[in-house]
Amino acid sequence: MTRPNSDTRDLLLDMRGLTLGVATPDGILPVVQDLSLSLSTGETLGIVGESGCGKSLTSLAIMGLLEGTPVRVLAGEIFFRGRDLLRLSPRERRAVMGNEMSMIFQEPMTSLNPVYRIGDQIVEAIREHQPMSRRAARDRALELLTMVRIPDPAGRIDSFPHQLSGGQRQRVMIAMALAGSPRLLIADEPTTALDVTVQAQILKLIVELQKDTGMGVMLISHDLGVIAETCDRIAVMYRGRVVETAGARELFQDMRHPYTRGLLDSIPEADEDVDRLSAIPGRVPTLDETITGCAFHPRCARAGAGCDSDQPALAAFAPTHFARCHYPLEPDA
Ligand SMILES: Nc1ncnc2c1ncn2[C@@H]1O[C@H](COP(=O)(O)OP(=O)(O)OP(=O)(O)O)[C@@H](O)[C@H]1O
Ligand code: SF4
Ligand SMILES: [Mg+2]
Repeated sequence: MTRPNSDTRDLLLDMRGLTLGVATPDGILPVVQDLSLSLSTGETLGIVGESGCGKSLTSLAIMGLLEGTPVRVLAGEIFFRGRDLLRLSPRERRAVMGNEMSMIFQEPMTSLNPVYRIGDQIVEAIREHQPMSRRAARDRALELLTMVRIPDPAGRIDSFPHQLSGGQRQRVMIAMALAGSPRLLIADEPTTALDVTVQAQILKLIVELQKDTGMGVMLISHDLGVIAETCDRIAVMYRGRVVETAGARELFQDMRHPYTRGLLDSIPEADEDVDRLSAIPGRVPTLDETITGCAFHPRCARAGAGCDSDQPALAAFAPTHFARCHYPLEPDA
């Protein structure tokens, strides 16, 4: 089988066969299986899937943040600019992590320290990356606050987190993530805690920053609508596996996996104020539930012979379009 995305673009991140397991009293349960993904400089890759599909664990594995959790890397390689992160010494890895990649999380209030002014927190983040005087770091903090479009940065730099709105706090978190001028930014549900209007503004900001800086961005969301608006390429995950991956336009014009279709049907219309996640019946199985064959089969209207016994392989529908399904949707379904 051809490995997805095995082309010759300016590869920043190239993950091959990543497999993660969680240690439990009953043994090691798989949480992410045989995951291969890549991301180029200047590209935005969206990872989408319902809660519990393994999106965050994948990003934590890239960032080297699984230590202290029961989650283990069981197999695979994570190449970042040609070096396998999983085989670097802890010291080498820290250097890459600190300077070249950065992550923003869902809830800015839990990541910002409530008792310190935001300017001081940004200054500290800057000085972690490069030695400079406090005064120079404060100038750089002002620059970063301007970059993330905080209104009146000079007036806001000495505010405490609680004095800012949710959207402004998320902008501060983004400023801190940019402190080391990372080549890769991972944004894990960066707008989920925000209302729809602010969410759109933050996504627009991420897109603009990506264009200005040329960094690669991995954007994680359970909302295919959010991913669709923002990303060049999309990987759909279900229960620890990529089930479909393609360029964003390609995916929407020619989606082949029933789960992708279900996620699309779950996006509420603009004037609709209801949760349409019920468009996919049932729920993501928990880790301790053993499911043979395609993990989506208990919820899939297309399930047929073999779906409950044989794991479908990732098959190519076009050079950059892959899906894992025994009975894929027809091209214009
Ligand atoms: N520290 C942990 N210990 C044990 N199990 C974990 C841990 N972190 C995650 N898991 C389990 O691994 C699976 C994948 O979790 P993960 O957080 O990656 O999902 P996710 O796709 O990011 O979901 P969400 O959309 O809710 O953020 C879930 O079943 C989760 O319960
Ligand atoms: S393999 Fe079968 S159960 Fe799985 S998504 Fe395809 S049709 Fe549905
Ligand atoms: Mg998550």
